[in-house]
Amino acid sequence: MARIDTFLNGKFLPVHEANVNIEDRGILFGDGVYEVIQVYHGRLFQANEHLNRLWRSAAEIELPLPYDRGEMLQLMVELVRVSNVYDGGLYLEITRGVAVRVHQFPENCKPTFFMIARDAKPLEDSVYTQGVQVTLLPDERWKRCDIKTLNLLPNVLAKEKAVRLGFFDAFFFSERGITEATSSSVLVVFNGELVTAPQGYWILPGITRDTVIDLARQLNIPVRRDFISKDEIFKATEVMLTNTRVNIVPVVSIDGVTINNGQPGEIYKQLAHAFKALLEAT
Ligand SMILES: Cc1ncc(COP(=O)(O)O)c(C=O)c1O
Repeated sequence: MARIDTFLNGKFLPVHEANVNIEDRGILFGDGVYEVIQVYHGRLFQANEHLNRLWRSAAEIELPLPYDRGEMLQLMVELVRVSNVYDGGLYLEITRGVAVRVHQFPENCKPTFFMIARDAKPLEDSVYTQGVQVTLLPDERWKRCDIKTLNLLPNVLAKEKAVRLGFFDAFFFSERGITEATSSSVLVVFNGELVTAPQGYWILPGITRDTVIDLARQLNIPVRRDFISKDEIFKATEVMLTNTRVNIVPVVSIDGVTINNGQPGEIYKQLAHAFKALLEAT
């Protein structure tokens, strides 16, 4: 029997049976929001934080949610259980629903809600032990990057460009400075201090970044929320990126300029160690 790994509009299904109508506003307009939650050893990591962000994203685009938080969490846990995903991720999406294509919100439109549970292999060890190389690209996204919407085309194009050039990822820069990467937050160390962009419309409030900031405070590493300019970043003693899929990854080169002699730094190591401990304790 096919593995049950999705949930769509009230039913647990194998992915090939989970079909969405082509007039769904998620397809036509990207009119929806999403979340990705890590499944670590069969458990959802930081599910409440992801639900908080989902609720906020939905409110920002006036999208009614089809379940309350308790029900949503129960469905998430149930999908992880029935899918047997042990290490991987849960993708969750809500769109404004199916309607004849008009730009304004249609009347009586019922949201589409689906989740997909997927195994994911951990990244190769070398990513964490040797670090990765990134490039800088202009941030061409809209002005509400704090909302986790389905509109990821600028992120997709930047990631594709970076990968084609042989980089792990691209860091976006705007007139403010470095904002974030195509699907992760950016943290930098200057003189022993961890610096990361202030929260605002220009970046997604990264849950992994918040966790790393909390861990830094527990480890007495000073944290400052400030923009780093596109020139300053080359002078950093350490650079790292964070997200739900990769946790924390050290960056050892930016556009061919070596950071920290091309080695993951000491602050990265402390934070990665503390993060692993937290993951295991959850
Ligand atoms: C643009 C962007 N910034 C930051 C992040 C990191 O967020 P989180 O740590 O919650 O996964 C993501 C994750 O998908 C992202 O897409």
